[in-house]
Amino acid sequence: MSRRFADRRALVTGGAAGIGLATARALAAEGARIALLDIDAPRLDETAAELRGTGAEVHALAASVADPDAVRAAFAELDSRWGGLDILVNNAGVIGKRAALDLTDEAWSRVMRINLDGVFYCAREAGRRMVAQGSGAIVNLGSIYSLVAAPERLAYCASKAAVAAMTKVLAIEWAAHGVRVNAVAPGYVETDLIAAAVRAGEIDTVPLARRTPVGRLARPDEIARAILFLLDPANAYVTGHMLAVDGGWTAYGYV
Ligand SMILES: NC(=O)c1ccc[n+]([C@@H]2O[C@H](COP(=O)([O-])OP(=O)(O)OC[C@H]3O[C@@H](n4cnc5c(N)ncnc54)[C@H](O)[C@@H]3O)[C@@H](O)[C@H]2O)c1
Repeated sequence: MSRRFADRRALVTGGAAGIGLATARALAAEGARIALLDIDAPRLDETAAELRGTGAEVHALAASVADPDAVRAAFAELDSRWGGLDILVNNAGVIGKRAALDLTDEAWSRVMRINLDGVFYCAREAGRRMVAQGSGAIVNLGSIYSLVAAPERLAYCASKAAVAAMTKVLAIEWAAHGVRVNAVAPGYVETDLIAAAVRAGEIDTVPLARRTPVGRLARPDEIARAILFLLDPANAYVTGHMLAVDGGWTAYGYV
């Protein structure tokens, strides 16, 4: 196992489950020090304990990315432990399915506050520290719905398209300061998010797998591998990029 991230200080938001957890595991396996920020405190504690069991240094921060004061407090706590930050994986996110005409103010703003405001609050705090130290790497979680559209997902698609724009703006503002900002655009991934949508009758994974040229959903570790590629200091010339990790979903335009 390579140690590309030995002693790097990495914060993963939404790190208690799914893609965030897979990314934290992969970073820890390559030597990174890990901070997990998640709103689900009991699950956060379980995940932190699991990662500590592998010998990793892990800090658990119970907070919502949508609360700017809580985000500031979490970064301040990391300052006192680590004195800086090398990696941010801006992963926490939620979905929501409703026809545009039925989308309430609350449903719209819940998705926007977590998927967009939360990404901004965390990127801003991380960027302040990384620009000051002259190095750092951020990966934001976009989606195939940063790039293409699905019906009844107005807030989700709009939030993820905005994450794509934010990734580019931050990348060009911070490039000269040694800070890279990239994003991944996963297709459908086997996580609790998708399992809950299946249980709620909101999606059916059989046609989704059929619609995917690779013929199946992704595993969380497959998304984590792409995130680590973008974080890898060896890829210092890659910034402002959104990498589709979608089994060919966005390439497909036939019948
Ligand atoms: N699963 C997919 O098919 C898929 C596809 C494309 C993009 N994504 C994106 O990947 C990211 C992770 O998705 P996942 O499938 O791993 O989700 P998940 O629901 O399995 O895990 C998300 C984690 O984020 C946490 N979280 C939710 N709201 C939060 C908040 N306000 N503050 C802090 N933590 C919060 C949850 O507690 C959970 O631990 C999301 O941004 C999602 O939009 C997922």
